[in-house]
Amino acid sequence: MEQTGSLTLVIFGASGDLTSRKLIPALFSMKGQKLLPQKFAILGTGRTHFTEDNFREKMKESIFAFSEEKNPDRRLAEGFTNSIFYLPMDSSAEEEYIRLRGKLDKLNSSFDTGENYIFYFATPPAMYEIIARNLAKAGLADQTNGFRRFIIEKPFGYDYRSAVELNRKLHELVEEDQIYRIDHYLGKETVQNVLVTRFANGIFEPLWNRNYIHRVEITAAESIGVENRGGYYDSSGALRDMVQNHLLQMVGLTAMEPPSSLSPDAIRNEILKVFQSLQPLHEAEVSENVIRGQYTGSKIRGDVVTGYRSEKGVPGDSRTETYIAMRFFINNWRWGGVPFYMRTGKRLPTRVTEIVIHFKRTPHHLFQRHDGITTSNQLIIRIQPDEGILLKFDMKEPGSGFNVKNVNMDFRYSQLANIRVPSAYERLLYDVMTGDPTLFSRDDEVETAWKFLEPVQNAWVNNPGIKVFGYPAGTWGPEISDNLMGGCGLTWRYPCRNLAEDGNFCEL
Ligand code: BG6
Repeated sequence: MEQTGSLTLVIFGASGDLTSRKLIPALFSMKGQKLLPQKFAILGTGRTHFTEDNFREKMKESIFAFSEEKNPDRRLAEGFTNSIFYLPMDSSAEEEYIRLRGKLDKLNSSFDTGENYIFYFATPPAMYEIIARNLAKAGLADQTNGFRRFIIEKPFGYDYRSAVELNRKLHELVEEDQIYRIDHYLGKETVQNVLVTRFANGIFEPLWNRNYIHRVEITAAESIGVENRGGYYDSSGALRDMVQNHLLQMVGLTAMEPPSSLSPDAIRNEILKVFQSLQPLHEAEVSENVIRGQYTGSKIRGDVVTGYRSEKGVPGDSRTETYIAMRFFINNWRWGGVPFYMRTGKRLPTRVTEIVIHFKRTPHHLFQRHDGITTSNQLIIRIQPDEGILLKFDMKEPGSGFNVKNVNMDFRYSQLANIRVPSAYERLLYDVMTGDPTLFSRDDEVETAWKFLEPVQNAWVNNPGIKVFGYPAGTWGPEISDNLMGGCGLTWRYPCRNLAEDGNFCEL
Protein backbone atom coordinates (compact mmCIF):
# COMPACT_ATOMS: atom_id res chain seq x y z
CA MET A 1 0.00 0.00 0.00
CA GLU A 2 1.17 3.54 -0.68
CA GLN A 3 0.78 6.73 1.22
CA THR A 4 -1.64 9.28 -0.13
CA GLY A 5 -0.69 12.96 -0.56
CA SER A 6 -2.28 15.50 1.74
CA LEU A 7 -5.54 15.43 3.61
CA THR A 8 -7.71 16.62 6.49
CA LEU A 9 -10.08 14.05 7.95
CA VAL A 10 -13.09 15.70 9.59
CA ILE A 11 -15.08 13.54 11.99
CA PHE A 12 -18.62 14.59 12.84
CA GLY A 13 -19.75 13.09 16.13
CA ALA A 14 -16.15 12.82 17.30
CA SER A 15 -17.00 12.59 20.99
CA GLY A 16 -18.81 9.27 20.43
CA ASP A 17 -17.74 5.68 20.95
CA LEU A 18 -16.97 4.91 17.32
CA THR A 19 -14.24 7.56 17.21
CA SER A 20 -12.56 6.39 20.42
CA ARG A 21 -12.94 2.66 19.95
CA LYS A 22 -12.42 2.20 16.24
CA LEU A 23 -11.38 5.25 14.24
CA ILE A 24 -8.57 6.71 16.35
CA PRO A 25 -6.95 3.31 17.11
CA ALA A 26 -7.14 2.43 13.41
CA LEU A 27 -5.62 5.76 12.35
CA PHE A 28 -2.91 5.41 14.97
CA SER A 29 -2.05 1.96 13.69
CA MET A 30 -1.90 3.37 10.16
CA LYS A 31 0.47 6.04 11.42
CA GLY A 32 2.76 3.31 12.78
CA GLN A 33 2.73 1.60 9.40
CA LYS A 34 3.36 4.89 7.59
CA LEU A 35 0.06 4.61 5.79
CA LEU A 36 -1.13 8.11 6.60
CA PRO A 37 -0.40 11.00 4.28
CA GLN A 38 2.63 12.99 5.37
CA LYS A 39 0.55 16.14 5.36
CA PHE A 40 -2.33 15.05 7.49
CA ALA A 41 -4.62 16.43 10.18
CA ILE A 42 -7.70 15.14 11.96
CA LEU A 43 -10.41 17.54 12.98
CA GLY A 44 -12.99 16.22 15.42
CA THR A 45 -16.27 18.08 15.78
CA GLY A 46 -19.18 17.59 18.12
CA ARG A 47 -21.53 19.33 20.50
CA THR A 48 -19.45 18.52 23.55
CA HIS A 49 -17.25 21.40 24.62
CA PHE A 50 -13.77 19.93 24.76
CA THR A 51 -10.72 22.12 24.62
CA GLU A 52 -8.25 20.90 22.03
CA ASP A 53 -5.98 19.64 24.83
CA ASN A 54 -8.82 17.73 26.52
CA PHE A 55 -9.82 16.12 23.26
CA ARG A 56 -6.25 15.08 22.50
CA GLU A 57 -5.95 13.61 25.97
CA LYS A 58 -9.16 11.63 25.44
CA MET A 59 -7.89 10.36 22.09
CA LYS A 60 -4.57 9.38 23.64
CA GLU A 61 -6.44 7.39 26.27
CA SER A 62 -8.43 5.66 23.57
CA ILE A 63 -5.21 4.64 21.81
CA PHE A 64 -3.99 2.98 24.99
CA ALA A 65 -7.35 1.43 25.76
CA PHE A 66 -8.40 0.16 22.33
CA SER A 67 -5.34 -0.30 20.14
CA GLU A 68 -4.68 -3.85 19.04
CA GLU A 69 -1.08 -3.40 20.02
CA LYS A 70 -0.57 -4.18 23.69
CA ASN A 71 1.98 -1.45 24.40
CA PRO A 72 1.54 1.39 21.94
CA ASP A 73 4.65 3.51 21.50
CA ARG A 74 4.20 6.61 23.71
CA ARG A 75 6.24 8.92 21.53
CA LEU A 76 4.42 7.88 18.43
CA ALA A 77 1.10 8.41 20.23
CA GLU A 78 2.24 11.85 21.32
CA GLY A 79 3.25 12.80 17.79
CA PHE A 80 0.05 11.39 16.36
CA THR A 81 -2.26 13.21 18.76
CA ASN A 82 -0.51 16.48 17.93
CA SER A 83 -2.16 16.24 14.55
CA ILE A 84 -5.64 16.00 16.13
CA PHE A 85 -7.78 19.12 16.52
CA TYR A 86 -11.25 19.78 17.82
CA LEU A 87 -14.01 22.22 17.01
CA PRO A 88 -17.12 22.28 19.20
CA MET A 89 -20.04 22.91 16.88
CA ASP A 90 -23.69 22.19 16.31
CA SER A 91 -23.56 20.40 12.99
CA SER A 92 -27.24 21.03 12.35
CA ALA A 93 -26.70 24.82 12.26
CA GLU A 94 -25.80 26.19 8.83
CA GLU A 95 -23.96 29.24 10.21
CA GLU A 96 -21.53 27.02 12.16
CA TYR A 97 -20.00 25.88 8.89
CA ILE A 98 -18.40 29.28 8.41
CA ARG A 99 -16.38 28.53 11.55
CA LEU A 100 -15.68 25.06 10.25
CA ARG A 101 -14.36 26.50 7.00
CA GLY A 102 -12.21 28.96 8.93
CA LYS A 103 -10.75 26.15 11.01
CA LEU A 104 -10.05 24.06 7.93
CA ASP A 105 -8.32 27.00 6.23
CA LYS A 106 -6.10 27.39 9.28
CA LEU A 107 -5.22 23.70 9.29
CA ASN A 108 -4.45 23.89 5.61
CA SER A 109 -2.03 26.74 6.10
CA SER A 110 -0.27 25.16 9.09
CA PHE A 111 -0.16 21.58 7.79
CA ASP A 112 -0.24 22.21 4.06
CA THR A 113 -2.96 19.59 3.80
CA GLY A 114 -4.34 21.04 0.60
CA GLU A 115 -8.09 21.19 0.23
CA ASN A 116 -8.58 17.46 0.26
CA TYR A 117 -11.22 16.58 2.81
CA ILE A 118 -12.77 13.38 4.01
CA PHE A 119 -15.89 13.93 6.09
CA TYR A 120 -16.72 11.03 8.37
CA PHE A 121 -20.35 10.95 9.53
CA ALA A 122 -20.13 9.23 12.90
CA THR A 123 -23.47 10.70 13.89
CA PRO A 124 -27.03 9.45 14.22
CA PRO A 125 -28.44 8.77 10.73
CA ALA A 126 -30.98 11.59 11.06
CA MET A 127 -28.01 13.97 10.70
CA TYR A 128 -26.62 12.60 7.43
CA GLU A 129 -28.62 14.74 5.06
CA ILE A 130 -28.41 17.84 7.25
CA ILE A 131 -24.62 17.70 7.49
CA ALA A 132 -24.22 16.98 3.79
CA ARG A 133 -26.49 19.91 2.94
CA ASN A 134 -24.64 22.29 5.24
CA LEU A 135 -21.30 21.19 3.85
CA ALA A 136 -22.55 21.72 0.31
CA LYS A 137 -23.88 25.18 1.15
CA ALA A 138 -20.53 26.09 2.67
CA GLY A 139 -18.84 25.06 -0.59
CA LEU A 140 -17.23 22.07 1.08
CA ALA A 141 -18.71 19.43 -1.20
CA ASP A 142 -17.36 20.99 -4.35
CA GLN A 143 -14.30 19.22 -5.75
CA THR A 144 -12.77 22.02 -7.83
CA ASN A 145 -9.78 22.50 -5.54
CA GLY A 146 -9.36 19.07 -3.99
CA PHE A 147 -11.30 15.89 -3.34
CA ARG A 148 -14.27 15.82 -0.97
CA ARG A 149 -15.33 12.36 0.20
CA PHE A 150 -18.14 11.44 2.55
CA ILE A 151 -17.99 8.34 4.73
CA ILE A 152 -21.42 7.28 5.91
CA GLU A 153 -21.91 4.74 8.67
CA LYS A 154 -24.76 2.26 8.78
CA PRO A 155 -27.69 2.15 9.19
CA PHE A 156 -28.19 3.53 5.72
CA GLY A 157 -31.93 4.02 5.94
CA TYR A 158 -34.22 1.85 8.01
CA ASP A 159 -36.15 0.31 5.13
CA TYR A 160 -36.34 0.39 1.33
CA ARG A 161 -38.17 3.68 1.03
CA SER A 162 -36.01 5.57 3.50
CA ALA A 163 -32.84 4.28 1.81
CA VAL A 164 -34.09 5.44 -1.61
CA GLU A 165 -35.03 8.79 -0.12
CA LEU A 166 -31.67 9.21 1.59
CA ASN A 167 -29.83 8.37 -1.62
CA ARG A 168 -31.99 10.82 -3.53
CA LYS A 169 -31.26 13.63 -1.09
CA LEU A 170 -27.53 12.92 -1.00
CA HIS A 171 -27.38 12.78 -4.78
CA GLU A 172 -28.82 16.31 -4.92
CA LEU A 173 -25.74 17.44 -3.02
CA VAL A 174 -22.86 15.19 -4.02
CA GLU A 175 -21.95 12.67 -6.68
CA GLU A 176 -22.33 8.96 -5.97
CA ASP A 177 -18.58 8.47 -6.32
CA GLN A 178 -18.00 10.86 -3.41
CA ILE A 179 -20.06 8.67 -1.06
CA TYR A 180 -18.42 5.79 0.83
CA ARG A 181 -21.08 3.75 2.66
CA ILE A 182 -19.11 1.81 5.16
CA ASP A 183 -19.84 -1.82 5.97
CA HIS A 184 -17.01 -2.88 8.22
CA TYR A 185 -17.48 -6.57 7.32
CA LEU A 186 -16.17 -5.78 3.86
CA GLY A 187 -13.03 -4.44 5.52
CA LYS A 188 -12.30 -7.79 7.16
CA GLU A 189 -9.44 -9.66 5.51
CA THR A 190 -11.26 -12.95 5.74
CA VAL A 191 -14.35 -11.57 4.01
CA GLN A 192 -12.19 -10.32 1.14
CA ASN A 193 -10.48 -13.68 1.09
CA VAL A 194 -13.76 -15.26 -0.02
CA LEU A 195 -13.06 -13.73 -3.43
CA VAL A 196 -9.53 -15.09 -3.51
CA THR A 197 -10.52 -18.55 -2.29
CA ARG A 198 -13.12 -18.76 -5.00
CA PHE A 199 -11.43 -17.13 -7.92
CA ALA A 200 -7.74 -17.87 -7.41
CA ASN A 201 -8.16 -21.62 -7.03
CA GLY A 202 -9.06 -23.97 -9.82
CA ILE A 203 -10.38 -26.59 -7.43
CA PHE A 204 -13.29 -24.82 -5.76
CA GLU A 205 -14.95 -22.84 -8.51
CA PRO A 206 -15.95 -25.82 -10.70
CA LEU A 207 -17.87 -27.21 -7.71
CA TRP A 208 -19.34 -23.89 -6.64
CA ASN A 209 -22.84 -24.33 -8.00
CA ARG A 210 -26.17 -26.12 -7.77
CA ASN A 211 -24.73 -29.36 -9.16
CA TYR A 212 -22.41 -29.96 -6.24
CA ILE A 213 -23.59 -27.74 -3.40
CA HIS A 214 -26.47 -28.87 -1.24
CA ARG A 215 -26.86 -25.75 0.86
CA VAL A 216 -25.01 -22.70 2.12
CA GLU A 217 -25.08 -21.48 5.68
CA ILE A 218 -23.88 -18.13 6.96
CA THR A 219 -23.71 -17.46 10.69
CA ALA A 220 -22.68 -14.36 12.59
CA ALA A 221 -23.04 -15.21 16.25
CA GLU A 222 -22.18 -12.86 19.08
CA SER A 223 -21.87 -13.72 22.73
CA ILE A 224 -22.34 -10.13 23.88
CA GLY A 225 -25.75 -8.62 24.48
CA VAL A 226 -26.77 -5.13 23.43
CA GLU A 227 -24.41 -3.61 26.00
CA ASN A 228 -25.03 0.12 26.41
CA ARG A 229 -26.73 0.46 23.01
CA GLY A 230 -30.21 -0.62 24.09
CA GLY A 231 -31.85 2.57 22.83
CA TYR A 232 -30.36 2.32 19.34
CA TYR A 233 -30.72 -1.44 19.14
CA ASP A 234 -34.37 -1.48 20.06
CA SER A 235 -35.21 0.71 17.08
CA SER A 236 -33.09 -1.48 14.86
CA GLY A 237 -33.06 -5.18 15.72
CA ALA A 238 -30.91 -7.90 14.16
CA LEU A 239 -32.45 -7.58 10.70
CA ARG A 240 -31.42 -3.96 10.27
CA ASP A 241 -28.31 -4.13 12.41
CA MET A 242 -26.65 -7.17 10.81
CA VAL A 243 -28.67 -8.81 8.02
CA GLN A 244 -29.33 -5.92 5.63
CA ASN A 245 -25.65 -5.08 5.52
CA HIS A 246 -23.03 -7.51 6.86
CA LEU A 247 -24.79 -10.81 6.19
CA LEU A 248 -26.09 -9.90 2.78
CA GLN A 249 -22.65 -8.66 1.71
CA MET A 250 -21.26 -12.06 2.70
CA VAL A 251 -24.02 -13.70 0.66
CA GLY A 252 -23.04 -11.47 -2.26
CA LEU A 253 -19.37 -12.49 -2.18
CA THR A 254 -20.18 -16.15 -1.69
CA ALA A 255 -22.70 -16.32 -4.51
CA MET A 256 -21.44 -13.83 -7.10
CA GLU A 257 -20.17 -14.67 -10.57
CA PRO A 258 -16.48 -14.06 -11.32
CA PRO A 259 -16.05 -10.32 -11.92
CA SER A 260 -14.53 -9.30 -15.24
CA SER A 261 -11.79 -7.43 -13.35
CA LEU A 262 -11.01 -6.19 -9.87
CA SER A 263 -12.30 -2.72 -10.63
CA PRO A 264 -14.73 -1.38 -8.02
CA ASP A 265 -17.70 -1.48 -10.36
CA ALA A 266 -16.90 -4.91 -11.77
CA ILE A 267 -17.07 -6.36 -8.26
CA ARG A 268 -20.03 -4.33 -7.09
CA ASN A 269 -21.98 -5.11 -10.24
CA GLU A 270 -21.67 -8.82 -9.51
CA ILE A 271 -22.78 -8.39 -5.90
CA LEU A 272 -25.71 -6.33 -7.11
CA LYS A 273 -26.70 -9.09 -9.54
CA VAL A 274 -26.85 -11.54 -6.63
CA PHE A 275 -29.11 -9.19 -4.69
CA GLN A 276 -31.29 -8.73 -7.75
CA SER A 277 -31.62 -12.51 -8.04
CA LEU A 278 -32.75 -13.06 -4.46
CA GLN A 279 -36.11 -14.77 -4.68
CA PRO A 280 -38.63 -12.31 -3.27
CA LEU A 281 -40.49 -13.57 -0.25
CA HIS A 282 -44.21 -12.96 0.01
CA GLU A 283 -45.45 -11.58 3.30
CA ALA A 284 -47.48 -14.73 3.79
CA GLU A 285 -44.34 -16.91 3.55
CA VAL A 286 -42.37 -14.97 6.11
CA SER A 287 -43.27 -17.02 9.18
CA GLU A 288 -42.18 -20.27 7.47
CA ASN A 289 -38.88 -18.85 6.28
CA VAL A 290 -37.82 -16.41 8.93
CA ILE A 291 -37.50 -17.06 12.65
CA ARG A 292 -36.99 -14.20 15.04
CA GLY A 293 -36.01 -14.49 18.65
CA GLN A 294 -35.19 -12.43 21.69
CA TYR A 295 -32.88 -13.43 24.54
CA THR A 296 -34.31 -13.95 27.96
CA GLY A 297 -32.56 -13.82 31.33
CA SER A 298 -30.39 -16.78 32.14
CA LYS A 299 -27.21 -17.95 33.81
CA ILE A 300 -24.08 -18.34 31.69
CA ARG A 301 -21.31 -20.32 33.36
CA GLY A 302 -22.72 -19.39 36.74
CA ASP A 303 -23.20 -15.66 36.01
CA VAL A 304 -26.66 -14.17 35.91
CA VAL A 305 -27.34 -12.51 32.56
CA THR A 306 -30.21 -10.05 32.07
CA GLY A 307 -32.83 -10.66 29.47
CA TYR A 308 -33.15 -8.24 26.57
CA ARG A 309 -36.29 -6.59 27.90
CA SER A 310 -34.49 -5.68 31.12
CA GLU A 311 -31.55 -4.06 29.32
CA LYS A 312 -31.07 -0.31 29.74
CA GLY A 313 -32.99 1.67 27.13
CA VAL A 314 -35.21 -1.26 26.11
CA PRO A 315 -38.98 -1.14 26.78
CA GLY A 316 -40.27 -3.97 28.98
CA ASP A 317 -42.61 -5.16 26.23
CA SER A 318 -40.21 -4.84 23.31
CA ARG A 319 -40.71 -7.20 20.36
CA THR A 320 -37.40 -6.30 18.74
CA GLU A 321 -35.49 -9.34 17.52
CA THR A 322 -32.02 -10.00 18.92
CA TYR A 323 -31.84 -13.15 16.77
CA ILE A 324 -32.91 -13.90 13.25
CA ALA A 325 -32.58 -17.02 11.10
CA MET A 326 -33.68 -17.03 7.51
CA ARG A 327 -33.99 -19.39 4.55
CA PHE A 328 -33.96 -17.99 1.04
CA PHE A 329 -33.09 -18.83 -2.55
CA ILE A 330 -31.11 -17.16 -5.29
CA ASN A 331 -32.88 -17.47 -8.60
CA ASN A 332 -30.15 -17.77 -11.17
CA TRP A 333 -28.37 -20.44 -13.19
CA ARG A 334 -25.70 -21.06 -10.62
CA TRP A 335 -27.90 -21.33 -7.57
CA GLY A 336 -31.41 -22.27 -8.69
CA GLY A 337 -32.92 -24.57 -6.01
CA VAL A 338 -30.03 -24.35 -3.51
CA PRO A 339 -31.26 -23.16 -0.12
CA PHE A 340 -29.25 -20.44 1.58
CA TYR A 341 -29.51 -19.98 5.31
CA MET A 342 -28.33 -17.07 7.36
CA ARG A 343 -28.61 -16.36 11.05
CA THR A 344 -27.28 -13.87 13.50
CA GLY A 345 -27.93 -13.18 17.13
CA LYS A 346 -26.77 -11.64 20.33
CA ARG A 347 -26.12 -13.60 23.52
CA LEU A 348 -25.40 -16.81 21.67
CA PRO A 349 -22.90 -19.26 23.20
CA THR A 350 -19.85 -17.91 21.42
CA ARG A 351 -18.62 -15.27 19.01
CA VAL A 352 -18.20 -16.81 15.62
CA THR A 353 -18.77 -15.75 12.03
CA GLU A 354 -18.49 -18.35 9.32
CA ILE A 355 -19.68 -19.34 5.89
CA VAL A 356 -20.32 -23.05 5.45
CA ILE A 357 -20.59 -24.65 2.05
CA HIS A 358 -22.26 -28.04 2.39
CA PHE A 359 -21.46 -30.19 -0.61
CA LYS A 360 -23.85 -32.85 -1.86
CA ARG A 361 -23.23 -36.38 -0.68
CA THR A 362 -21.96 -39.07 -2.98
CA PRO A 363 -24.78 -40.59 -5.04
CA HIS A 364 -24.23 -44.00 -3.52
CA HIS A 365 -23.00 -44.69 0.01
CA LEU A 366 -20.49 -47.48 -0.32
CA PHE A 367 -18.98 -47.24 3.12
CA GLN A 368 -20.44 -47.69 6.57
CA ARG A 369 -19.82 -44.93 9.05
CA HIS A 370 -18.84 -45.88 12.55
CA ASP A 371 -18.59 -42.46 14.15
CA GLY A 372 -22.31 -41.85 13.73
CA ILE A 373 -21.65 -38.56 11.92
CA THR A 374 -23.59 -38.22 8.72
CA THR A 375 -22.17 -34.95 7.51
CA SER A 376 -21.17 -34.48 3.91
CA ASN A 377 -18.10 -32.55 2.81
CA GLN A 378 -18.07 -29.05 4.16
CA LEU A 379 -15.91 -26.08 3.38
CA ILE A 380 -15.96 -23.75 6.35
CA ILE A 381 -14.71 -20.24 5.82
CA ARG A 382 -14.08 -18.93 9.28
CA ILE A 383 -14.39 -15.16 9.20
CA GLN A 384 -13.67 -14.69 12.91
CA PRO A 385 -12.21 -15.59 15.35
CA ASP A 386 -9.58 -18.25 14.54
CA GLU A 387 -9.66 -16.90 11.00
CA GLY A 388 -9.03 -19.54 8.41
CA ILE A 389 -10.51 -22.25 6.22
CA LEU A 390 -11.42 -25.78 7.12
CA LEU A 391 -12.32 -28.58 4.77
CA LYS A 392 -14.09 -31.59 6.21
CA PHE A 393 -13.81 -34.83 4.35
CA ASP A 394 -13.97 -38.56 4.92
CA MET A 395 -10.99 -40.88 5.09
CA LYS A 396 -10.43 -44.52 5.80
CA GLU A 397 -9.68 -45.36 9.38
CA PRO A 398 -6.48 -47.40 9.45
CA GLY A 399 -7.13 -51.06 10.05
CA SER A 400 -9.22 -53.80 8.66
CA GLY A 401 -12.37 -53.18 6.65
CA PHE A 402 -13.46 -49.81 5.34
CA ASN A 403 -14.36 -47.74 8.33
CA VAL A 404 -14.78 -44.11 7.44
CA LYS A 405 -13.97 -41.16 9.61
CA ASN A 406 -14.61 -37.46 9.06
CA VAL A 407 -11.42 -35.41 9.33
CA ASN A 408 -10.36 -31.80 8.96
CA MET A 409 -7.85 -30.14 6.73
CA ASP A 410 -7.30 -26.61 7.84
CA PHE A 411 -5.49 -23.39 7.23
CA ARG A 412 -5.37 -20.68 9.86
CA TYR A 413 -4.22 -17.13 9.36
CA SER A 414 -2.24 -17.37 12.57
CA GLN A 415 0.03 -19.85 10.77
CA LEU A 416 1.28 -17.02 8.58
CA ALA A 417 4.16 -15.93 10.75
CA ASN A 418 4.90 -12.21 10.89
CA ILE A 419 1.80 -11.24 8.98
CA ARG A 420 -0.49 -8.96 10.84
CA VAL A 421 -4.14 -8.93 9.81
CA PRO A 422 -5.14 -5.25 9.67
CA SER A 423 -8.36 -4.20 11.33
CA ALA A 424 -11.36 -3.56 9.09
CA TYR A 425 -11.34 0.17 9.81
CA GLU A 426 -7.67 0.49 8.88
CA ARG A 427 -8.30 -1.08 5.53
CA LEU A 428 -11.43 0.93 4.84
CA LEU A 429 -10.01 4.29 5.94
CA TYR A 430 -6.99 3.65 3.76
CA ASP A 431 -9.23 2.86 0.81
CA VAL A 432 -11.17 6.11 1.20
CA MET A 433 -7.91 8.02 1.40
CA THR A 434 -6.77 6.46 -1.87
CA GLY A 435 -10.21 6.81 -3.45
CA ASP A 436 -10.95 3.10 -3.83
CA PRO A 437 -14.68 2.42 -3.34
CA THR A 438 -14.55 -1.35 -4.01
CA LEU A 439 -15.29 -2.32 -0.42
CA PHE A 440 -18.09 0.19 0.07
CA SER A 441 -21.74 -0.35 -0.71
CA ARG A 442 -23.08 1.39 -3.76
CA ASP A 443 -26.49 3.09 -3.78
CA ASP A 444 -28.17 0.38 -5.86
CA GLU A 445 -26.75 -2.44 -3.71
CA VAL A 446 -28.10 -0.89 -0.55
CA GLU A 447 -31.52 -0.28 -2.04
CA THR A 448 -31.79 -3.76 -3.52
CA ALA A 449 -30.82 -5.34 -0.19
CA TRP A 450 -33.54 -3.37 1.56
CA LYS A 451 -36.05 -4.28 -1.13
CA PHE A 452 -35.42 -7.97 -0.50
CA LEU A 453 -36.06 -7.54 3.22
CA GLU A 454 -39.14 -5.36 2.79
CA PRO A 455 -41.68 -8.23 2.98
CA VAL A 456 -40.11 -9.42 6.21
CA GLN A 457 -40.36 -5.98 7.75
CA ASN A 458 -43.94 -5.61 6.48
CA ALA A 459 -45.00 -9.02 7.72
CA TRP A 460 -43.68 -8.33 11.19
CA VAL A 461 -45.53 -5.00 11.31
CA ASN A 462 -48.76 -6.21 9.73
CA ASN A 463 -49.03 -9.53 11.46
CA PRO A 464 -48.55 -9.35 15.21
CA GLY A 465 -49.36 -13.07 15.32
CA ILE A 466 -45.86 -13.86 14.00
CA LYS A 467 -44.02 -14.99 17.09
CA VAL A 468 -40.91 -13.57 18.68
CA PHE A 469 -39.44 -16.71 20.23
CA GLY A 470 -37.65 -16.31 23.54
CA TYR A 471 -34.28 -18.07 23.96
CA PRO A 472 -32.24 -18.19 27.12
CA ALA A 473 -29.11 -16.04 26.88
CA GLY A 474 -26.13 -18.26 26.13
CA THR A 475 -28.00 -20.70 23.88
CA TRP A 476 -28.07 -20.99 20.11
CA GLY A 477 -31.39 -19.15 19.69
CA PRO A 478 -34.85 -20.63 19.26
CA GLU A 479 -34.62 -24.36 18.59
CA ILE A 480 -37.39 -24.04 16.05
CA SER A 481 -34.80 -22.46 13.73
CA ASP A 482 -33.68 -26.00 12.86
CA ASN A 483 -37.07 -26.49 11.19
CA LEU A 484 -35.96 -24.10 8.45
CA MET A 485 -33.64 -26.88 7.26
CA GLY A 486 -36.63 -28.85 6.11
CA GLY A 487 -36.36 -31.94 8.33
CA CYS A 488 -34.47 -35.14 7.46
CA GLY A 489 -32.38 -34.59 10.58
CA LEU A 490 -30.63 -31.55 9.12
CA THR A 491 -29.73 -28.80 11.55
CA TRP A 492 -27.63 -25.68 11.54
CA ARG A 493 -23.97 -26.25 12.14
CA TYR A 494 -23.29 -25.53 15.78
CA PRO A 495 -19.66 -24.45 15.89
CA CYS A 496 -17.85 -25.64 18.96
CA ARG A 497 -20.73 -27.68 20.28
CA ASN A 498 -18.67 -30.71 19.51
CA LEU A 499 -15.01 -30.07 20.28
CA ALA A 500 -13.81 -33.21 18.61
CA GLU A 501 -15.49 -32.17 15.38
CA ASP A 502 -14.05 -28.68 15.19
CA GLY A 503 -10.55 -29.38 16.41
CA ASN A 504 -8.41 -26.28 16.23
CA PHE A 505 -11.29 -24.13 15.18
CA CYS A 506 -12.81 -23.82 18.57
CA GLU A 507 -12.13 -21.25 21.17
CA LEU A 508 -14.54 -22.49 23.79
C1 BG6 B 1 -22.12 -3.75 14.07
C2 BG6 B 1 -23.42 -3.92 14.79
O1 BG6 B 1 -22.33 -3.26 12.77
O2 BG6 B 1 -21.47 -5.01 13.99
C3 BG6 B 1 -23.20 -4.50 16.18
O3 BG6 B 1 -24.07 -2.66 14.90
C4 BG6 B 1 -22.40 -5.76 16.10
O4 BG6 B 1 -24.43 -4.73 16.83
C5 BG6 B 1 -21.15 -5.56 15.25
O5 BG6 B 1 -22.05 -6.14 17.42
C6 BG6 B 1 -20.46 -6.87 15.01
O6 BG6 B 1 -19.22 -6.63 14.43
P1 BG6 B 1 -18.01 -7.64 14.60
O7 BG6 B 1 -16.94 -7.05 13.76
O8 BG6 B 1 -17.69 -7.65 16.07
O9 BG6 B 1 -18.49 -8.96 14.14
